[in-house]
Amino acid sequence: AFDISSLRHKTGYTTYDPGFGNTASCASAITFMDGEKGILRYRGIPIEDLAENATFIETAYLLINGHLPSPEELNRTRVLLNDFSMVHESMQIFFQNFPQGSHPMGILSGMIMALRSFYPDMGTEEDMNTHFLYLLSKVRTMAAMSYRLSRGEKVVYPRHDLSYCANFLNMMFDSPVHPYIVEEDLVRALNVFLILHADHEQNCSTSAVRVVGSSKAPLYASIAAGVSALWGPLHGGANQAVIEMLEKIHKEGATIDEVIRRAKDRKDPFRLMGFGHRVYKTYDPRAKIIKKMCDRILGKLKKEDPLLDIAKKLEEVALTDPYFVDHNLYPNVDFYSGIVLRAMRIPTNMFPVMFAIGRLPGWIAQWKESMEDPSQRISRPRQIYTGLPETRYHDIMDRK
Ligand code: ACO
Repeated sequence: AFDISSLRHKTGYTTYDPGFGNTASCASAITFMDGEKGILRYRGIPIEDLAENATFIETAYLLINGHLPSPEELNRTRVLLNDFSMVHESMQIFFQNFPQGSHPMGILSGMIMALRSFYPDMGTEEDMNTHFLYLLSKVRTMAAMSYRLSRGEKVVYPRHDLSYCANFLNMMFDSPVHPYIVEEDLVRALNVFLILHADHEQNCSTSAVRVVGSSKAPLYASIAAGVSALWGPLHGGANQAVIEMLEKIHKEGATIDEVIRRAKDRKDPFRLMGFGHRVYKTYDPRAKIIKKMCDRILGKLKKEDPLLDIAKKLEEVALTDPYFVDHNLYPNVDFYSGIVLRAMRIPTNMFPVMFAIGRLPGWIAQWKESMEDPSQRISRPRQIYTGLPETRYHDIMDRK
C-alpha cells in the first residue's frame, strides 16, 4: 500500500486549487463516493441497502465505530441515548433570550458551543464515546426545543419509551390539546432522511469540522463549526432554498421555462437550487431514493403537494436542456428532501437543522478518524499572493 506519510514534508510546490476541487486533504475509510457512476457507500455498505433496511442509529453506530452494532451494542446505545437525552435546565434560559425570528441554525451552533461548558470534553476513550452519544442525543433534543421556544410554546421532554426519530417528532409536535400520535410511516421516512444525510466524505461542513479539529480545538467547537458551514444555501441551506424557490414559483405563477432560462443566464445570480454537485456528475443516488419516498409518503398520507409537481416538471425540463446536460447538472439530495419534511410538518426554516441532525454522526466519525490519524497535521493551506510589491509606510500627513 502507498505510504501517505512519505509525502508529509514535501515542500516547494504550491497547487492553486480554488475550493479544493482536486485536493485530497486526508485519507479516510468512512465513506466511498463515485461521482461519475453515482455510487455512495458508508463503510462499504451501499446507501440503497442502508436506506432500505437500517435505522438512523444503526447507521450512526456504523459510521462512528466502523461496523454495524451487534444486538447488545445496539441495545446499549439506545439505553445511553435515552439516558443522555435531557439538556441542562439552565440552557433553556439561553434559548429564551435569542431574539424572535432567529434562524434555528444560528441557535443550534451557539447551543452546541455552550454544551462544551456544561459537559467539558476530552479524557479517556470511554469519555469520548460518551460525548459522541451526548451530541447525538442532545442535539436532537435541542433542535426540537429551539422550535418550540421560537413559537412561544413549552418544551416537550424526551420520552424513554420512544425510538430516536419518534421521540424527535413527539418533542416537536406533542401538545396537551393535540397529543402527538406516532405515525410509523413518518418515523420510517425520518430515519431514511437522516440516513441519506449521515455522511458525504469531505464536503464543506465536514472539512470545517476537520479544519477546526486539526488545531486540537474541542469536539464541540469542531461540530459547531460544521453547523455554521452547513447553514449556507450552497450546502445544507439548499433544502430550505429549494422549497422557498418552489413556493415562489407556485405563488407567482412563473412558468417552468422562465425559471430554467433564469438559471442558465450567467448575468443573473439565480441558480436552480437543489441542482448540481461538486462530486456527482450524474444523478445523486440519495436524490433517487428521496424522490421515490416523496411519492410513497404522500400516497400513504393521502396528501398532495403542488410543489412536488413543480419540482418534477423542473427536473423533466432541466434534464433535457443542453445547458444542464453539458454542465452535468442533476438533482441533488436537497431537491426533493424538503417535500418529505413538509409532509412531516417540519417548518421550512428548520430544514437545515434536520440536515445537521443527520450529518452529525458523519462529523463525529470524521473528527474521530482525524484525531486517530498520525499523518494529520494542523490544516494550513497556502495562497497565491496577488497584492502590491514591497511598499513604503507613509506618515498620516503625507497620505492622499
Ligand atoms: N443552476 C444553474 N447553473 C449551475 C448550477 C445550478 N444549480 N450549479 C452549477 N451551475 C453552473 C455554474 O454556473 C457553472 O457554470 P459555468 O462553468 O458555465 O460558469 C458550472 O455549473 C459549475 O458550477 P460551480 O459553481 O463551479 O460548481 P461547484 O462544484 O463549485 O458548486 C454547487 C457545486 C455549489 C452544489 C452548485 O452546483 C450549486 O450552487 N447548486 C445549487 C445549490 C445546491 O443545490 N446546493 C446543494 C449541494 S448538495 C449538498 O450540499 C447536500
